[in-house]
Amino acid sequence: MTAQFIRVDPQQPDPALIQQAAVALRSGLLVAFPTETVYGLGANALDEAAVARIFQVKGRPADDPLIVHLASVDWLPRAVSQVPGSALQLAEVFWPGPLTMILPRQPHIPGLVTAGGPTVAVRVPSHPVALALIRAAEVMVAAPSANPFGRTSPTLANHVLADLGERIDVILDGGPAGIGVESTVLDLTQPAPVILRPGGVTREDLSKALGMPVALRGDTPLPGPLASPGLLPRHYAPRAELVFLQGSPDLDLMRALAQQALEQGRKVGLLVVEEDWPVFEGLAVQKISLGSQDDLWQAAHRLYAALRALDEQGVELILARDLGEQGPGLALRDRLRRAARKVI
Ligand code: TXA
Ligand code: MG
Repeated sequence: MTAQFIRVDPQQPDPALIQQAAVALRSGLLVAFPTETVYGLGANALDEAAVARIFQVKGRPADDPLIVHLASVDWLPRAVSQVPGSALQLAEVFWPGPLTMILPRQPHIPGLVTAGGPTVAVRVPSHPVALALIRAAEVMVAAPSANPFGRTSPTLANHVLADLGERIDVILDGGPAGIGVESTVLDLTQPAPVILRPGGVTREDLSKALGMPVALRGDTPLPGPLASPGLLPRHYAPRAELVFLQGSPDLDLMRALAQQALEQGRKVGLLVVEEDWPVFEGLAVQKISLGSQDDLWQAAHRLYAALRALDEQGVELILARDLGEQGPGLALRDRLRRAARKVI
């Protein structure tokens, strides 16, 4: 059966409609809902059967833990056994919002949620629909992004409907997800905080809030090309073969690669910024603009929908360029590297 599709006002969702979705959550059903980052697929975090179904419908391996969504910072003790001062300090600045913190877990959090580990990921989303839903359900909500494992995250309710509509119970449509890439995952269980996944809160803003530089997991002086393709866990991936040109962009190389593929009769798509367009003049390629180089938030907002659009156009090869590591550039690079079949 197809999921019940409930459309609500993104800013002021009708409490009666939210209540319907909340009742579904409380009774162990799976509810997709908008957050300010991407759409999540939610289950009552304390209901093991419901959480198990999340893994099943996504095809997600059990060793990949879930984020527990809370209605407010006051809920932290429900999930977390020890709340360090740094967590409260960061919550003050970034919650509600796209920051996920890794902290020691309470023993009653199901092992499925934490993949058996001693820590739990927690965040308070800022999307009014997400907050209203969690508040009305009065339960913590375990929610990964609402996509089949390894594929592009949904930024519209219709993406969820297309990907998982036959396998889940309710889809709350609250319009487009604003930021467009997932939350920043920050590990606070180490002596110094480490970013495990760059995302909606920038490294610069975290460093400023904590008054110290914040490391990125796997930080190397300059992340060079991969020794061989396929070393990175593939994720966020479109169907087409994506080739990511990392580092300061060599647009001439990109043009040459596009031309070569066209000559082989392949359908080619480009993920570029408007400033790049003149370079590709005269090539019969599908160009999708991520906006201007000067607005990387716009690029983040468009990224996943752009990958989906290129798939829908039947593109076989996508060439994507790096946009640096300032602000959301770091998250864009991370997602494109993981979406790529090849990084050059
Ligand atoms: O923006 C987001 O974070 C979205 C929305 C729905 O909130 N959710 C999301 O969830 O992106 P998911 O499951 O697609 O990604 C969660 C990430 C994974 O990389 C997972 O490995 C990591 O968080 N994670 C979860 N629990 C963890 C833990 N205890 N320790 C380390 N990493 C953890
Ligand atoms: Mg995901």
